[in-house]
Amino acid sequence: TAIQRLDYRAPTYWIATVDLTFDLDPAKTLITSKMAVKRNSAQAHGPLVLVGEELTLLRCLIDGEPVSFRQEGNDLVIDAPDRDFELTLRNTCAPEKNTALSGLYTSGGSFFTQCEAEGFRRITYFLDRPDVMAVYTVTLRADAAKYPVLLSNGNLLEQGTLDGGKHFAKWHDPFPKPSYLFAVVAGDLVAREQRITTRSGKDHLLQVYVRRGDLDKTEHAMNSLIASIVWDEKRFNLPLDLERFMVVGVSDFNMGAMENKGLNIFNTSALLCSPATATDADFQRVEAIVAHEYFHNWTGNRVTCRDWFQLSLKEGLTVFRDREFSMDMAGSASARAVQRIQQVRNLRAIQFPEDAGTMAHPVRPDSYVEINNFYTATVYEKGAEVVGLYQTLLGRDGFAKGMALYFERHDGQAVTCDDFAQAMADANPGSPLSSRLDAFKRWYSQPGTPHVAAQGEYDAEGHTYTLRLSQRNAKGPLPQVIPVRMGLVGPEGQALPLQLQGEIAARGTDTVLILEEAAQAFTFVNVMVPPVPSLLRGFSAPVLLEDGLSDPQLLTLLRFDADAFNRWEAGQRLSLKRLLRAARSGQPLQLDNAYVEAMRAVLRHADLDPAFKAEALKLPDAAYIAEQLEVVDPQAIHAAVEAAWDQLAAALRDDWAWAFDAHQVTGGYSPNAVDAGKRALANLALAMLVRGAVAQGDPVWPGRAYQRVKTASNMTERFGALAALVNAHAELAEPALVHFHALFADDALVIDKWFMLQARTPERGGAVFERAKKLLQHPDFTLKNPNRARSLLVQLCNMNPGAFHRSDAAGYVLWAEQVAAIDAINPQLAGRLARAMDRWSTLAEPYRTAAQEALKRLAERSTLSNDVREIVTKALGA
Ligand code: ARG
Ligand code: ZN
Repeated sequence: TAIQRLDYRAPTYWIATVDLTFDLDPAKTLITSKMAVKRNSAQAHGPLVLVGEELTLLRCLIDGEPVSFRQEGNDLVIDAPDRDFELTLRNTCAPEKNTALSGLYTSGGSFFTQCEAEGFRRITYFLDRPDVMAVYTVTLRADAAKYPVLLSNGNLLEQGTLDGGKHFAKWHDPFPKPSYLFAVVAGDLVAREQRITTRSGKDHLLQVYVRRGDLDKTEHAMNSLIASIVWDEKRFNLPLDLERFMVVGVSDFNMGAMENKGLNIFNTSALLCSPATATDADFQRVEAIVAHEYFHNWTGNRVTCRDWFQLSLKEGLTVFRDREFSMDMAGSASARAVQRIQQVRNLRAIQFPEDAGTMAHPVRPDSYVEINNFYTATVYEKGAEVVGLYQTLLGRDGFAKGMALYFERHDGQAVTCDDFAQAMADANPGSPLSSRLDAFKRWYSQPGTPHVAAQGEYDAEGHTYTLRLSQRNAKGPLPQVIPVRMGLVGPEGQALPLQLQGEIAARGTDTVLILEEAAQAFTFVNVMVPPVPSLLRGFSAPVLLEDGLSDPQLLTLLRFDADAFNRWEAGQRLSLKRLLRAARSGQPLQLDNAYVEAMRAVLRHADLDPAFKAEALKLPDAAYIAEQLEVVDPQAIHAAVEAAWDQLAAALRDDWAWAFDAHQVTGGYSPNAVDAGKRALANLALAMLVRGAVAQGDPVWPGRAYQRVKTASNMTERFGALAALVNAHAELAEPALVHFHALFADDALVIDKWFMLQARTPERGGAVFERAKKLLQHPDFTLKNPNRARSLLVQLCNMNPGAFHRSDAAGYVLWAEQVAAIDAINPQLAGRLARAMDRWSTLAEPYRTAAQEALKRLAERSTLSNDVREIVTKALGA
C-alpha cells in the first residue's frame, strides 16, 4: 500500500482551530478535542475521515449532538454535513506503553511528544497531514508534585491549582500549524533561562529545560540558540516571532531533535554537553542541531510542506542553513574548508551508498510505504547540496533575494519544492537558474549520483586547454545541471588565468562552468603552460568525479591548489587509488615512497592548520571505497585500510610523535575550532603512535595513552586516548575500558560512547564481533533506549563492515534477530537498523548469498512493521 506523490488531493474539510485538554496520566491519558471544522468547497462533499492509532474513542459530537460514525481500521469515518461545524471528540491513549516513541509517551517519569511525521494520530483523531494548519489552544492537567512543569506550543495564557493535588496550564499558539509541529511536555524539569532583545527591540524569554542535575550541561546549547537567533536575523532577515522559545531535552528519542513551534524537543545527545563529558565533535553537533531546529521556525514552520513528499523542502533547506551558520561560526577560511570536508565525507559514506542501493529515491520521492523511512541522507544531505546549487548559480545575494521572495509569497502556507524553485528563479530573472529551471529541477526528480568524467587536452603550440566534461547517471536518464567550480593550476603551483574561447571577459583564476548536456567541451585560451585541472572545487555538486589525474598531477594539487577542499581531495584520491588497487587485486597493500612522503609533507607542513592536516591524513571511509567497486569484498577493503594505517603508523613514527607533542592545548578547555583542530591532530597522532607501538611490542605509548584515559581534563582527550588503545587492540584497552566505565557509570551519554567505541573497533580475527555480541548481555544495554541500541547495533551492523560481514554469516544472523526484536518495540528504530543490508547485492560471495538468506528469513516473519517490511521488500527486489 504505497502512497503516491501524484495522488495528492486537498482535503474535503479543513480544521481552523483546535482546543485540546489533556488529563495526563501515564497509564491512561484522557484527551478532549474541540475543533472548528470548515468545509473545503473546492472538493465534493463526503464524510470527514479522521485518522487515529492505538486510541480508545469515547465520544464524537457535531455541534454538541451525537453523529453517526464508523471505525474502519485506523480511520474514523464521520457522516459530516456539507457546512462548517464544531466537532468534539474524547479519547484515551496509553503513554507508558508507547515504546515506539511516536505520539505521547513517557521517559524518565515525564511526558513528551513526537508528532512528526504521523505521531499526532496517536494522541487524538485528526486530519494528520501537513497541509491542514490549525490554531491550537491546549490545557494540560496533571499531578502537581510529579509534573510541576507543563508545557505546550506558543504563549502561556493561564496556570493554577486544581483539586486533588493537581494543577493546570493553558497555552495558546497564535500561528496556524500542521499537527506534526504540536508538542506537549510535562514533568519534573528545570530550566536555564535567558532574556534577549532582538533587533526589532522585542524582548524574548529563552529556556532550556532538562532533568534536575543536567543544568550545568546546557550552557553551550543556550549560547548556540542565541547565536542562531542573531545569525538568522542578520543573514536572512528572519526574526524570532515568539515571546517565548523553549528547548527541552529527553533521553528516549528516535531522532536528533524536533522543531515543534516554540517548543523544540531534543534528544539529550544533541543538547547536553560539558567539557568533561562531551567531545569537540559533540559540541559542534549540539551547536548545529540547536541551530537546525531554530532555523526550522521559518523554513518548516512559517512555511511548511504541502505533503510528505516535499520533506526536503524544509529539511534540505534547513540543513543548508545550519551548515552556513556553522561555517560562519567556525571563522577562518581553513575552518570553513574543514567543515566542508566533513560534510562531503559524510555524504560519500552514507548518501552515495543510499543513492546506489535498494532504498535509492529522489530528493523529492515519488512514493513511500512508511514516511519515517524517508528521513534519509538523500532528503537531508543531498537535499542540502541541491539548495547549495542555487547559491552557487545565483550567488549569495541572488540566493537571499530568492529566500525573501519565497517568504513573501508563501508565509503561512503549506507548499512544494516547485514553489521554492520558482521563487528562486523569479527573484533572479536572467540568471543561470531561470534560463534552465526545468532541467535544474531534475535534481528533485531523478535518483542516483551523477558520474562526471573529465578529460583535458593541452595544445602546447596553440596555448589552448580543452576540458571535455560528460555525465551519466545509472538511475536517471536526463542530463542534470551540474555547476563545476574549477581552476587551472600550473606546474609550479601558479593559479592560471581563465579565458574561455569566445568570451570577452576573463574569468579570473576560479570560475563555475555549467555542465548541462550529456557531454560538453570548454576551451581555455592563452594557457602558456600545461595545467593541472582542479575540478569541482568546494565539492560544487554532489557527483562522483572521474578525472583520471595521474599521481604527479594529484601531488601538484595536494601541494598547491588554492582551493583547500581540492587539496584535501587530491590527498584522498591518492589514498583511494592505492586502497582500491589492493581491494581489487586481493594483494597485500604496500604504500609507495612518494605517497608516504606526501603524507609526511602534509603532517609537517609549516602553514596548514592542524584541523586540516587531521582531515587530510585520514583515509577514505570503507563505505566510500566500496562504492567505487563493482563487486565488494568487505574483508579485502578492511585489510587494505588496516594495512595502510599500519604502514602510515610505522613510516611516520617520528612525525606522529612530533605532531602529538606539538599540538597539546594548554589552559582551560574551549571547543573553538583552533583548539579543537589541535586536539584532533594530537588524537590522530596518538592513535598512530599506539598502533605502531602495539605492532612493535613497545609499551611506552600505550602506557601514555592509558595515563591519559585516567587523567585527561576533557572528554576529547580522554576518549581519544581510550579509542587509541581500543582501536589498536592494545593490552591496556581492557583496563582502560573498565576505568572509563567506572568513571562515567551514571552518565548515559558517555556510556553510549563506551558501547559505540567497542562496536566500531576495527575488526581483528573476529574478536570485535564477539565482544559486541557479548555487550548485548551487558546490564547497561537495552533495546528500549534508542541511543543505547544505536550505539551498539547500528554502529556494528551499519558502520563496521569489517566486523559485520563474516564468512560464517554470524553478523547477518544477529542483525535479523535484533531487527525483529527492536521492531516489536520501536519500528522506526528497527527501520534504521534494517538499512544495514541496502548494498547486499554488490557483495562478493559468500557474503552475498548469506545476506540474501538473512533478508529472506526476516521477510518471512508475519509480524513486521510497515517500516521494516518496506526496507526488506525493497532490498529483496534488487
Ligand atoms: N524534523 C526533525 C528534524 O529534522 C526530524 C524529525 C523526524 N521525525 C521522524 N519521525 N522521522 O529536525
Ligand atoms: Zn530538520
